[in-house]
Amino acid sequence: MSVTAMKSDRPASTHPLSPLEVVEVAVPEDERVWVPQAPNVSFRPLFFNTLNGQWCNLLRVRKSGVLSRHLHPAPVHGFVIKGSWRYLEHDWVATEGSYVFEPPGETHTLVVDEDCEEMITFFNITGCMYYVDEQGNNTGFEDVFTKIDMCRKHYAACGLGADYVDRFIR
Ligand SMILES: [Fe+2]
Repeated sequence: MSVTAMKSDRPASTHPLSPLEVVEVAVPEDERVWVPQAPNVSFRPLFFNTLNGQWCNLLRVRKSGVLSRHLHPAPVHGFVIKGSWRYLEHDWVATEGSYVFEPPGETHTLVVDEDCEEMITFFNITGCMYYVDEQGNNTGFEDVFTKIDMCRKHYAACGLGADYVDRFIR
């Protein structure tokens, strides 16, 4: 169903300029929905906000996976759905059911330890992931648009179709 068709079917109480809802089974049954990001690291897109540079996704890291050191210029909110993980830069562990707030400027390296087969965490991110090396030098970045591009490329290659990502974009 096209977005235009769906909009015309909306209840009169919803303003015509309002974007459509996103409703997804968060943890997908189809493995292809997960987008590979790094060895043992993948993400499942849920929402891409192209107007304020925000996105929501599930991050899945399997045993011994590492999400490269990065900082966020804006706040990040996380909720651990499964497993546990920690940052090399902190002494706490985020366990299943934990909520995590990361303040602007926070630099960290996410790791999943040997005793955890798999962790899945919902993240709400705004701005970008600014990747840095040990000296703090920039090594790359990801933002809402590079994430969309990654999804489009993966979905085209895996058979879901490049436009599968469109359902998440507002
Ligand atoms: Fe982060």
